[in-house]
Amino acid sequence: MERFTVNGGKALFGCVAVPAAKNAILPILAASLMTDGETVVKNCPDLSDIRVSADIIRAVGSMAAFDGSSFWTVYNESEKSAIPQPLCSKMRSGILYLAPLLYRRGKVTLYYPGGCNIGKRQIDIHLDGLQKMGAQLECGEDKITLLAPDGLKGTHFRLRLPSVGATQTLMMAAATAKGITILHNCAKEPEVVDLARFLRCAGAKITGAGKSEIIIQGVQSLNAVEYTPIADRIFAATVLSGVNACRGMVFLKNYPAEYMHSFEKVLKQTGLRIVHLADGAVAVKIFDRAADIKVHTGFYPAFSTDMGPLLSAALINNNGTLVLTEGIFENRFSYAEQFEKLGLCCKVSGTEYYQTPKNSIYTAQLKAADLRAGAALVVAALAKRGNFTIEGLEYIDRGYEKIEDVFSALGGNIRRNTFEQQQKSKS
Ligand code: EPU
Repeated sequence: MERFTVNGGKALFGCVAVPAAKNAILPILAASLMTDGETVVKNCPDLSDIRVSADIIRAVGSMAAFDGSSFWTVYNESEKSAIPQPLCSKMRSGILYLAPLLYRRGKVTLYYPGGCNIGKRQIDIHLDGLQKMGAQLECGEDKITLLAPDGLKGTHFRLRLPSVGATQTLMMAAATAKGITILHNCAKEPEVVDLARFLRCAGAKITGAGKSEIIIQGVQSLNAVEYTPIADRIFAATVLSGVNACRGMVFLKNYPAEYMHSFEKVLKQTGLRIVHLADGAVAVKIFDRAADIKVHTGFYPAFSTDMGPLLSAALINNNGTLVLTEGIFENRFSYAEQFEKLGLCCKVSGTEYYQTPKNSIYTAQLKAADLRAGAALVVAALAKRGNFTIEGLEYIDRGYEKIEDVFSALGGNIRRNTFEQQQKSKS
């Protein structure tokens, strides 16, 4: 088992490039199965979820190659339409292969998806929408099969709530369905808009992505594409959170300014200055301004649920209170217990989280229980004076390529220790 050792309390200085967004890349990789010829997705960070995507594409008989930055897919005809259970359990985004496989094979089998344990994470909207487009559903104890041997047909469908994943599934399904589909109550997240942009580059006819209503005129086939997805707003928030908590000055190259308003607005209240430049942004924090902060997370353009844990970490040294109300997932505050070990007073009541400083702690053993909670622990440990260890790196590696290198390059003292290194230091 690997773990981080962190000697916290150092200010951050330097430059970091924001990679393409995991949550934009994963649906685009699934959609690449729908394109004919060789599709290339560029600027991908080397994440475990991206490697699992390559395994899924190969498991269903197509070709995928990833060199740690560019991801190639070449479609192959095959009978394979089931995503093996071990791959489904590794990440939730296996669900995004429903529509591509229905288009390619007329059939798809998927085991109930795994992923971070941040809430119930149902899949009913994906399934209802696909059934409305003509797919037949067969439910087993641990898996589902959808059948559409003659293809899907356009429809009007209102999403029960604006799910990001379900909007992406239905946009992909409609892209090659017969006739026109109108989706109502869609998610407006930038990653939905980016998938639409990718599909449009491949020849799909989609209008309205980023608004509540998306209209799709189905086409017969999609062509190969070379595509660079949008920059990762959650990665950018992680670095801003680090600068706010540790102080210092960092230049973020490729900064996705247009998606960062709500996060920036809150951090500015505690003394962070952000200067937008043509090729990025500079974040500067010289002194802490005590502030009581209240934030509600929700569907875009509201404050992002993924940024909630990062906001908590950003405010770890803030001499005020944070009240964070979660509007999307039921179990987002797994880091509360860990933050207590860092000397905060944290209370969770249903979907409300409260944090305020209590005392100084100089050593603690921390454990990540999901991806963004893990990133929050990294930032929080870097910002607190003392020596800390963090376990649960398999969660953090799902969304960050070597987060320890990102913060080490900025002057943070964080190291990854392998099991062998830990044994050596004991003997
Ligand atoms: N929901 C349903 N039924 C469905 C689909 C969703 O009830 O069929 C509910 C979920 O249970 C949840 C809410 O709708 O309570 C929102 O879920 P959504 O489908 O929007 O989320 P997702 O597509 O599963 C993506 C990101 C998450 C991010 C959410 C919300 C990816 C791969 N994941 O998940 O990212 O938190 O949107 O913005 O794009 C992360 O990166 O750490 C992460 C968890």
